Amino acid sequence: MHCKGELLRKALLLTTVLKIHARVIRQDLSPSVSCPAPLLTVNGTDAGNSRLNADYRRVREVKFSGAIGPLGEKRLCKIKCIGGQWVGPLCLSDDQKDNGRFHPLFRNCKLEYINPHLIVTFRNVPIQTAGWIFPHGAKLQTRCRELGLYKLLGSASPKCQNGAWTHKLPSCVPTTLLTNFTEDAPPTILIKIPSGSASVEPGGDLAVYPGSTIHLECLFSRRLGSPDWTWTSPLGQYLTGWAISSEERDWKYRLSIYYAKSQDSGTFTCATPRGITNSITLHVAAVHCDPISISNMHLSVRVEGTRLGHKAVFQCPVGFRIKGIANLTCQASGKWSSIIPSCEPVRCPALDSPAGLEEPHLKLEEHNSSYGGRAVFSCTWGYKLVGPPGIECEINGNWSGPLPKCIPIQCPPPVTPLYGHLIQSEAAGMDGERYAVGSLVQFACKGAHVLEGEASIICTETGFWSHPPPFCKPRCSYLGEPKNGHTAPSKFSYEPGDELQVICDPGYETPVEPRPKCMENGNWSMPLPHCTNYSQI
Ligand SMILES: *[C@@H]1O[C@H](CO)[C@@H](O)[C@H](O)[C@H]1NC(C)=O
Ligand SMILES: *[C@@H]1O[C@H](CO)[C@@H](O)[C@H](O)[C@H]1NC(C)=O
Ligand SMILES: *[C@@H]1O[C@H](CO)[C@@H](O)[C@H](O)[C@H]1NC(C)=O
Ligand SMILES: *[C@@H]1O[C@H](CO)[C@@H](O)[C@H](O)[C@H]1NC(C)=O
Ligand SMILES: *[C@@H]1O[C@H](CO)[C@@H](O)[C@H](O)[C@H]1NC(C)=O
Ligand SMILES: *[C@@H]1O[C@H](CO)[C@@H](O)[C@H](O)[C@H]1NC(C)=O
Ligand SMILES: *[C@@H]1O[C@H](CO)[C@@H](O)[C@H](O)[C@H]1NC(C)=O
Repeated sequence: MHCKGELLRKALLLTTVLKIHARVIRQDLSPSVSCPAPLLTVNGTDAGNSRLNADYRRVREVKFSGAIGPLGEKRLCKIKCIGGQWVGPLCLSDDQKDNGRFHPLFRNCKLEYINPHLIVTFRNVPIQTAGWIFPHGAKLQTRCRELGLYKLLGSASPKCQNGAWTHKLPSCVPTTLLTNFTEDAPPTILIKIPSGSASVEPGGDLAVYPGSTIHLECLFSRRLGSPDWTWTSPLGQYLTGWAISSEERDWKYRLSIYYAKSQDSGTFTCATPRGITNSITLHVAAVHCDPISISNMHLSVRVEGTRLGHKAVFQCPVGFRIKGIANLTCQASGKWSSIIPSCEPVRCPALDSPAGLEEPHLKLEEHNSSYGGRAVFSCTWGYKLVGPPGIECEINGNWSGPLPKCIPIQCPPPVTPLYGHLIQSEAAGMDGERYAVGSLVQFACKGAHVLEGEASIICTETGFWSHPPPFCKPRCSYLGEPKNGHTAPSKFSYEPGDELQVICDPGYETPVEPRPKCMENGNWSMPLPHCTNYSQI
């Protein structure tokens, strides 16, 4: 039983069953054949049994609405209890002819790659990126961009068949106009509609409104021979031949259809002398689309008309942009080529994401990502902004410039005083020779020098030191007292130029000049003189 539960879980995972509106059919079942509460997976995560915690012993069938495929198409699905095991999900197919029968869900198909020149459409919705998952039975429609400029190779409408596409996605081969008229390229077919209207259909057909005039121009180099137009419409008679005007007659081989009627529907093929072909399939239909009605208050529209091939061009006021497709064409299906777009306010990418700004030291002072709004920045302590401090949200939804940067504020290495040195030269945040904000540097003087100025300085947020570096001034040291005398003046240290006088005690002779003089290098000019005993003289 558990095994079957797993199977069910896998089946639910396989599809994108989102919404569980369980409608439960109860019936008395004998305990031996009742089923356990089913395991539920919602969007691929185990939802537990919380939503369906009823007593399942008497439940025979659970119906729910499944959202299937990339467009979340709603379908009624069910699981059934058979012999004590859940079977399913089984879903109603979207095929009306099927008379409401439930089918097992077949495997999905993934769209692995889209040729860059290919336009893929599913139920009138353009599929722009690969990776979409399509349910079983989904039929894609493909065509090459710029009808006639590329030739589609392969089947235009692959279908998902239980996990595999019936055909490989087609490719688009460039034609003569793109290959400079090389002989082995399929010919380009240019389409001109001088009167009437036409729509390029998702499957690559050209649908035209009755009465339109169509010129199909097969581009081939005339000097290599003449191409040939053929068509499948049995009754059609069409004018073909080289263009007349001098600038066109060597490369445009035309087929013209005047006042197109439904009998003109068919495939028109241009074959080069080598038998290389390119075709346009024409579909003449007197189709009208519903008039455009818009409810979005900002949206405005210019509608050509509601005939097949007519266009509706939508616009939004300044500060808003089109969400969806701006240009719709009335298609042969009687539907507009896309749903009506809406206007959404222009917004620039939000900068205040939970992950924060990429730059760790950048701070947002102001943040308004609406059109015309601005973002203003600052840096954390110790850092300074490089670049404009504010950017504006522009009409295209881009910010007016890149985000500024924060770079650390640094002080240059301080000048080391002569006869001095730095006590601390390594500081946190030091980058090479430069000091980060807050770095403290201390100075000391060598030997007989004393510090004049600030002994320690700090790197400030201006990128300058708090004070100029100090000087180390020379000083002569105190020489002590002579025996039997003393010196004057008596100081702890002496400045250059100071002179020392020795005064001897009575009975001793005070020396005559010269007196010791403090020199610029911090040395005394001479040693301290002695006091001499008269009796020794
Ligand atoms: C399932 O995922 C879709 C798209 O990712 C989301 O919009 C929806 O709310 C999710 N539903 C639940 C029930 O989580
Ligand atoms: C076609 O010719 C033009 C000009 O001579 C050249 O620039 C271009 O590359 C050619 N294209 C191809 C596909 O050869
Ligand atoms: C929509 O149509 C207008 C006018 O026909 C044209 O100028 C514009 O380029 C078209 N826009 C797109 C996205 O095709
Ligand atoms: C954001 O900027 C726009 C344009 O300047 C302004 O109209 C709007 O009021 C601002 N929003 C806030 C929340 O300040
Ligand atoms: C917005 O910026 C992106 C990335 O720089 C650029 O690729 C894009 O072309 C810009 N959009 C417009 C409308 O300028
Ligand atoms: C100062 O005196 C000391 C000791 O006598 C000596 O070694 C030094 O060289 C002198 N300095 C100068 C600059 O003459
Ligand atoms: C001076 O020297 C003599 C001989 O050396 C000694 O006798 C005398 O006491 C000294 N006088 C003083 C004041 O020291």
